[in-house]
Amino acid sequence: MQLSTSEKNRLRQQYGPWAIVTGASSGIGLELAQQLAGAGLNLVINARKADRLEPVAHQLKTEYSSKIRVVAADVSEPLGVRQLIDQTADLDIGLLVLSAGYGTSGLFLQSDLAEEMNMVRVNIEAVLALAHHYGNRFARQQRGGLILLSSMVAFQGVPYAANYAATKAYVQSLAEALALELKPAGVDVLAAAPGPVKTGFEQRANMQMGFSLTPAQVGVPILRALGRRSTVLPGGLTKLLVYSLRTVPRWGKVRIMKLVMGGMTQHQRQVPVSA
Ligand SMILES: NC(=O)c1ccc[n+]([C@@H]2O[C@H](COP(=O)([O-])OP(=O)(O)OC[C@H]3O[C@@H](n4cnc5c(N)ncnc54)[C@H](OP(=O)(O)O)[C@@H]3O)[C@@H](O)[C@H]2O)c1
Repeated sequence: MQLSTSEKNRLRQQYGPWAIVTGASSGIGLELAQQLAGAGLNLVINARKADRLEPVAHQLKTEYSSKIRVVAADVSEPLGVRQLIDQTADLDIGLLVLSAGYGTSGLFLQSDLAEEMNMVRVNIEAVLALAHHYGNRFARQQRGGLILLSSMVAFQGVPYAANYAATKAYVQSLAEALALELKPAGVDVLAAAPGPVKTGFEQRANMQMGFSLTPAQVGVPILRALGRRSTVLPGGLTKLLVYSLRTVPRWGKVRIMKLVMGGMTQHQRQVPVSA
């Protein structure tokens, strides 16, 4: 899926000349970085591993002749957030895409608490700190955009991914509120809430997705929605999954999500057969 010329011009004029994309080395962040470079924006790309960011930087520079700055930093740590802020202080930034994030799954009582706390730092604390910093920068310049990666799991509790879904409920709620609060300052805020997308997410979360979208199916709808709505459900599969539950009461949605996530994590509960 590709952006039209007029959409590329709109993105560049409203949100250029520089955009920051966290989580840009893989999956949805990588797709959004590709689309934004294709629209003529210069990019700051962030993730933890420099060896995965450098080839992305090389490809974007070669293919689109955009300026690319790599900031390899772990946003689960205050130092990583500070590095990103400091290393972008000299740039004219108009857009922040917060795609760095991950999930966990399985029985809550058997989860590794340190890992769950780390996920809260990446999915919530870093999003809060970066939205606060760049929201202020954008409000001072009276223009800008923030894209926060929520999820369809944000709309109800999800057994077997309880903490992950709770982190995304935070992101969804934050983005919805900021969309109205920052509008008078000329800042557009968008919650992007995809259903399952085939990325590195599945492996890190130890989930098995039966059906899923590709990053290419969600990137363009997310960018098209920026400045036009406060929430986007990108991709036909996302809309189908969310709308099919629309009339179900919230307690019922939680039970349905238990069945869905139960299936996606069933492999974790299978006892190996001994010889
Ligand atoms: N895939 C889905 O089904 C799905 C659905 C709904 C929402 N989402 C959300 O979409 C976002 C992107 O996920 P994805 O599917 O694209 O996953 P992905 O392919 O695993 O990409 C995650 C990106 O985040 C980076 N990252 C992870 N931890 C980081 C940290 N502590 N500091 C800086 N960067 C970090 C990763 O690079 P490094 O490992 O090098 O740090 C990678 O670039 C996440 O917020 C996820 O919750 C995903």
